[in-house]
Amino acid sequence: MIAITTIQELLHHMRTRRREYPDDRIGLVPTMGYLHEGHASLMRRSKAECGFSVLSIFVNPLQFGPNEDFDRYPRDAERDLALAERNGIDLVFMPSVQEMYPSKPLTSVIISQVTDRLCGASRPGHFDGVGTVVSKLFHLTQPDRAYFGMKDAQQVAVIQRMVDDLNIQVEIVPCETVRESDGLAMSSRNVYLSPDARAQAVVLSQALTEAEQAVKEAGMTVKELEARIRETIAKAPLADIDYAEVLDYPDLTVPSAEVDLSQYPNKLIVALAVKFGSTRLIDNRLLDSH
Ligand code: PAJ
Repeated sequence: MIAITTIQELLHHMRTRRREYPDDRIGLVPTMGYLHEGHASLMRRSKAECGFSVLSIFVNPLQFGPNEDFDRYPRDAERDLALAERNGIDLVFMPSVQEMYPSKPLTSVIISQVTDRLCGASRPGHFDGVGTVVSKLFHLTQPDRAYFGMKDAQQVAVIQRMVDDLNIQVEIVPCETVRESDGLAMSSRNVYLSPDARAQAVVLSQALTEAEQAVKEAGMTVKELEARIRETIAKAPLADIDYAEVLDYPDLTVPSAEVDLSQYPNKLIVALAVKFGSTRLIDNRLLDSH
């Protein structure tokens, strides 16, 4: 496995690889590091489907708000490299902020509408930062496939839309959310949770499982379903709901309030963001109402 930090080295390795193995598929797994089993599942999928797999590790300052956790985002390069190697990664690109943004970028990728709600609403500018860095990574590696986790379902919708709108020649592969044994979605941020908060955080996946059942009840409305979800989450005393929404997926538009969800023709998503102290967790589930 090769580990490099500069754009020049990355371009050199990608060009050489493409020249020597023109028929090989190239896979890209973009991450911010502090890797866990969720990231590992993306790497293994890339390894299974591609002849050459690239992992990027970059905590992207552009996607963090001024009062968010950029400075205290967990980092452990040594452990990440070992995990990458074990999971079939051929090349790790881990640039510095200076390398990626030698000067403040004056160009930004702004994706509208699909960013109006959920994390787009509660983290203004977040998806502009994601769109900008992911398009830079796509340009630099020119992957055939790029692997993203459905844990960040809005991110998948946003990136897919960016790729469609800008004709970026990459196939976006959405991958299933990997969970702890009690159902908590794996996240680099789970390490921030106090033992009490960690125990209560299971309420997110519980609320989603209940929603999965409730949506099948005849006459279930968006309002009623959202109320039930909020009720379940409120049972955890440390939980502070940022959002709990039922939306159309992947358009992320609001279904009309009165519509009977059990008869809804489109795919629905239940998406949650819940704060435990200063740690904000997200989770979601796609619902099949029939
Ligand atoms: P990060 O949070 O490190 O996540 C990297 C990738 O791993 C994302 O596609 C995310 O959805 C996926 N992932 C995280 N937890 C997962 C889980 N429990 N199961 C399956 N996949 C999971 O998302 C980002 O970084 C950044 O926004 C990035 C795309 C790298 C742009 O900076």
